[in-house]
Amino acid sequence: MLTFSRIPETPKAGPQSHSSKARQTMAEIEVDAATPGLKSISRRHLLRSASLAAAAGLIKLPTSRAEQPLADKSKAFPNGFLWGCATAAYQVEGNNSNTDLWTMEYLPQTIFKEPSGDACDHYHLYPQDISMLADLGFNTYRFSLEWARIEPEEGHFSNAELDHYRRMLTVCHEHHLTPMLTYSHFSLPRWFAIQGGWENPKAPDLFARFCERATRHLGDIVGYASTLNEPDIPQLLNWFNLPGAPAGMSVAQMMQMGLDNIRKQINAPEFSGLFMGNPAKTQAGLLASHAKGKEAMKSVRPDMPVGFNLAMSDDQPAPEDNHLEEKRAEVYGPWLEAAKHCDYLGVQTYSRSIVGKKDLPVPKGAELTQTGMEFYPQCVEHVVRYASKATGVPIIVTENGIATEDDTRRVAYVQQAVSGLKRAIDDGVDVRGYVAWSLMDNFEWMSGYTPKFGMVAVDLKTQKRTIKPSAAILGNIARRNSL
Ligand code: BGC
Repeated sequence: MLTFSRIPETPKAGPQSHSSKARQTMAEIEVDAATPGLKSISRRHLLRSASLAAAAGLIKLPTSRAEQPLADKSKAFPNGFLWGCATAAYQVEGNNSNTDLWTMEYLPQTIFKEPSGDACDHYHLYPQDISMLADLGFNTYRFSLEWARIEPEEGHFSNAELDHYRRMLTVCHEHHLTPMLTYSHFSLPRWFAIQGGWENPKAPDLFARFCERATRHLGDIVGYASTLNEPDIPQLLNWFNLPGAPAGMSVAQMMQMGLDNIRKQINAPEFSGLFMGNPAKTQAGLLASHAKGKEAMKSVRPDMPVGFNLAMSDDQPAPEDNHLEEKRAEVYGPWLEAAKHCDYLGVQTYSRSIVGKKDLPVPKGAELTQTGMEFYPQCVEHVVRYASKATGVPIIVTENGIATEDDTRRVAYVQQAVSGLKRAIDDGVDVRGYVAWSLMDNFEWMSGYTPKFGMVAVDLKTQKRTIKPSAAILGNIARRNSL
């Protein structure tokens, strides 16, 4: 789940020390993304990286097909299961300068730790990033459109930018990856935010026009479409426990204060973005925008699978005075209803919350990730069971992962997460895929580049990619379609 705190330089607790084995392996498997003419990472390179990880005792490599043991059915996932990694345009592309967030990054009193800048330059390096993902063994890539590139001024659409995203989708198909396309992942065109963002009564029509236009250009080659990423964030913030927040203040209230300051600085009294502004008005605008956006997409391609991605914590009742049902009704309720009219629901989960009057602080002694969340991979199994029961539609885990400098902890997390997922599937829960957050270390919003969620490391100066063991391990599970 999106993080809001300034991240401390050193991890707070837990076994975060780098395993020297893992570090050595990572160093050995660098991929020079900036080499001119390097279109894709060679298989030889990838196999070498995987072999190094195997040599370090981190993964078991299949040798030749003939030597592979017969698949253990009890460990296999359903045929056609989607295995992927995710990114979001703003976090990886770089220079998305027509957005609300870019404007906010450069204010004298900014709430961003650092600007996004070139990010991972995925805007230019996507061919090799996508090729790398496929070579690792995955069959799915989830990424998003940057609306502000496609419609930089209200009503002016750029065919060149739409063509860019068409090329990305095409490259996915060339590598036999199913593309999952999110139409709006947090960042908004600046002109849209200045008019009040999702609070603007015109928002649903403006969003639907964008959806229609983008689907006409791209829809025929989209695998799964999503209208919105985590539209329940404004409500979730109301329950969220931020260590160090002024007593009695919810994150939502803190964001509102920040917004007043931003509005003054840019002299735009209506300015509003997804995680700021009036939560009730934003929720109403988002629900209507999702419905109209979906209708617009379906009007162009009726058989395109459309859903959205919901931020869900594994909510557990506090021993006393628990308000679990109230939280569920307030945060997820309307969206779980909306999901019943979708082709699938994407769930995004990172940890658990113990719910009292609000979310309680993380239990004492728990292992923490870099973003202060509890290391709790069981959340995946619990959340898919809940979401499936509540909606009855197919579920796809569209984000799950942890922020850590210690990739051995990511390996442990992912292995436990997918084992839990398998248990749920064996019990009959209709889960169609698992998409890890994130393909590579990237711009973690207000927290900048400090939290490392990536399966692949990125050197921001050289744009060199370095495959971490976790990528090879999850990629092998994906390739085998089996634990
Ligand atoms: C968001 C991502 C974010 C991730 C980790 C999710 O809330 O969709 O954009 O980077 O969580 O915080």
